[in-house]
Amino acid sequence: MSAFELSSAADVLAGRSPASVEVRGWVARKHTVGGLVFVQLRDGTGYVQVSARKGASDAAYEGARSSTKESAVVVRGEVKDDRRAPGGKEISAKEFVVVSRAESWPITKTAAKSAGFLFDKRRLSIRGPKAIAAMKIRAEVVGATFDYFRENGFHLISAPSFVQAAVEGGSTLFSVDYFGKQANLSQSAQFYEEAALPALQKVWIFQPAFRAEKSKTAKHLTEFWMIEAEQAFAEQPENMKLQEGLLSKMVERVLANRQAELKTLGRTLKQPPLPFPRISYDEALSTAGKLGFPFEWGDDLPTEAERAISLTQDSPFFVTDYPLSARSFYHMTYPDRPKVTKSADLIAPEGVGELATGGQRIHDYHELMQRIQSQDLPTESFAWYLELRKYGMPPHSGFGIGVERSTRWIAGLKHIRSASLFPRTLSRISP
Ligand code: 4AD
Ligand code: MG
Repeated sequence: MSAFELSSAADVLAGRSPASVEVRGWVARKHTVGGLVFVQLRDGTGYVQVSARKGASDAAYEGARSSTKESAVVVRGEVKDDRRAPGGKEISAKEFVVVSRAESWPITKTAAKSAGFLFDKRRLSIRGPKAIAAMKIRAEVVGATFDYFRENGFHLISAPSFVQAAVEGGSTLFSVDYFGKQANLSQSAQFYEEAALPALQKVWIFQPAFRAEKSKTAKHLTEFWMIEAEQAFAEQPENMKLQEGLLSKMVERVLANRQAELKTLGRTLKQPPLPFPRISYDEALSTAGKLGFPFEWGDDLPTEAERAISLTQDSPFFVTDYPLSARSFYHMTYPDRPKVTKSADLIAPEGVGELATGGQRIHDYHELMQRIQSQDLPTESFAWYLELRKYGMPPHSGFGIGVERSTRWIAGLKHIRSASLFPRTLSRISP
């Protein structure tokens, strides 16, 4: 008998494996026809069909027959072309070893119809094809990001999650007891990126951010991963270019490497043309009014208005020049329009909404001091941030883009929680 060489589902299907293989994985599905057992074996690379015939190898047949859904198994056998098998290949089992037998699988077809149940059982339901596809697409999005920033000369940094300053306002802060003092969980690493600029000039960061979001929506998590970037000597137009380049790269890589996963999710994704459209806040205000979602100049773009405008677009776009009243204190305004900031949101089409927020920061010490005072902010917790402006701070800009928000749009997921392996929301902190 020939020696079995370790291989994988993907290599077998792609014809890259030897003829005699060992494949290790899990029983995704099983059915029996007469004296023949068919198992869809899943491993980290995909799915491959295994068949075990009674009379051919009784031990293999018995192993396959007695295996249960989600049992961990090792299969050794011969790769055969078979037009009826998914992907056109099948492993005809000579040995079928159940390494760890699974108990009766609790996620029945009926139970799987309830999203709540699936998320209660998330530790198990993540083995489903859609959950797997979403996670692989997310990993591709993150991988593309690492490459993008490296190619563009950005240094990866890290920053603390225990912080004192509220980057994005006090209303969504999680506070923690820090040896008897109050600390907060970081909403954004932006201030640390700004501090790193004189040392590194172009920085980016990839780490969790925390928001005490009391709204139950399809786009809010309480803990999510944020990609942020900051550049010295770069103004807002350059900042927008950096963002559209990043999102394009994410889409490009998913289109190149994750076609099967897009198909599993029923997602039609197209490469968005560059540059992305830039719509001013004022234009957005008037469009929203015409679409029946009016709001006051100065308010943040309300979710329904954002959604309505987003539905009129078929690729991502920027809404630029937000009023200062709708932005955090650090935003720079136009010299001739003191109520309008040099900032933008990057918004996904199809009703998905905001993916990123970015802008140019105030780099002048006195201007920032005045802003902090005029907004009655606690000067102590912003003291170090302000002080950066005393030691060589040039014009600079940056942005933050949510990993789960971008994955949600790229993968076409209905709810942001599907873009997270173990999502944290208003009502969920387990498993
Ligand atoms: O728009 P935000 O609040 O902007 C900032 O935090 C800036 N300080 C970033 C920067 O300029 N460095 O958050 C940035 C992005 C959002 O556009 C969104 O994609 C994501 O982070 N985000 C959330 N994702 C999921 N759940 C939430 N509750 C989120 N809040 C923000
Ligand atoms: Mg925002």
